[in-house]
Amino acid sequence: MLTRRRDVLLAAGAAVALSLGPARAEDTVKIGLIVPMTGGQASTGKQIDNAVKLYMQQHGDTVAGKKIDVILKDDAAIPDNTKRIAQELIVNDKVNFIAGFGVTPAALAAAPLATQAKIPEVVMAAGTSIITEKSPYIARTSFTLAQSSTIIADWAVKNGIKKVATLTSDYAPGNDALNFFREHFTAGGGQIVEEVKVPLQNPDFAPFLQRMKDAKPDAMFVFVPAGQGGNFMKQYAERGLDKAGIKVIGPGDVMDDDLLNDMGDAALGTVTAHIYSAAHPSAMNKEFVAAYKKAYNNRPGFMAVGGYDGIHLIYEALKKTGGKTDGDALIEAMKGMKWESPRGPISIDPETRDIVQNVYIRKVEKVDGELYNVEFQTFEAVKDSGKTKK
Ligand code: PHB
Repeated sequence: MLTRRRDVLLAAGAAVALSLGPARAEDTVKIGLIVPMTGGQASTGKQIDNAVKLYMQQHGDTVAGKKIDVILKDDAAIPDNTKRIAQELIVNDKVNFIAGFGVTPAALAAAPLATQAKIPEVVMAAGTSIITEKSPYIARTSFTLAQSSTIIADWAVKNGIKKVATLTSDYAPGNDALNFFREHFTAGGGQIVEEVKVPLQNPDFAPFLQRMKDAKPDAMFVFVPAGQGGNFMKQYAERGLDKAGIKVIGPGDVMDDDLLNDMGDAALGTVTAHIYSAAHPSAMNKEFVAAYKKAYNNRPGFMAVGGYDGIHLIYEALKKTGGKTDGDALIEAMKGMKWESPRGPISIDPETRDIVQNVYIRKVEKVDGELYNVEFQTFEAVKDSGKTKK
């Protein structure tokens, strides 16, 4: 009799514990956010983490009746880490999405895992064209280097720049930037007079800058990934390339708003083509920049916007599926999605799952005592032109 009563009490206790416990697994949507929070690309991870948190503060942490649980992991931008972490998140934590990816090799390392697990991989930072072709479960909210490099090449041709020396980071997005720039620039009659590639990790630009100076180009085309522009511009000014009249042109990564204001006057007048400027004059962007500054005490750059739009895409896809976490339904829901981002109007190309967005030509100017990329020309709804021809 006593034992029976004890059993009943135990069972009742367990039921109470269950009902008071954390949200049940089926009521929670888990997002594995894999970004570099340490190492040379840490500023990318911090911007994305900040922006995702800001978005969730503004929009709540429940979507279509599901609680959103973001699990943040640092891969230090090392693809072996990315792969191991993605595997653990999928197998142990049973995440419904993987997201983030600060560099191309990280996004590529995760692609086969997304395919195998049939869950969406939302690429918020990496920019090599080929990424979205590596899994039918990938959607991208960042950009491609083809989008900006072709446009700055055409601008250079039209603006009397005839000889260019190139300096690009020696890995996949640097090669995309260089190849798309070269193709458009030389087709327009331009000439490449010097071509150097710098290592991704801790690059010392000084010896290369001397070679650039000696080649006496009209301008130098530069791609370095987010986080490296400050150091590059410091060495550029120290070597006197600004004084020698060699202007920097390129995709806007080198003029990341995150670092721009500390670059000093050597950056003034730099013209780049890019997808986001903190000075983008829309009401939505003004609100975004103000909220980000208030929360984190610095200016958001383009990586923050990739993160903000990436979490938005996840929220909207979940709304469309009514909270269902079937990976095929989620990726279908993402195709063709259109919305207004702090960068301007954007959409997800239903064929390629890649981002379609405006590319702006901007010039660094002083506004109210601070350096900004001021947009002066817009190319609307630019698709990635770098896909493999099928
Ligand atoms: C990339 O690795 O794909 C990447 C990283 C940072 C950038 C652009 C591209 O600014």
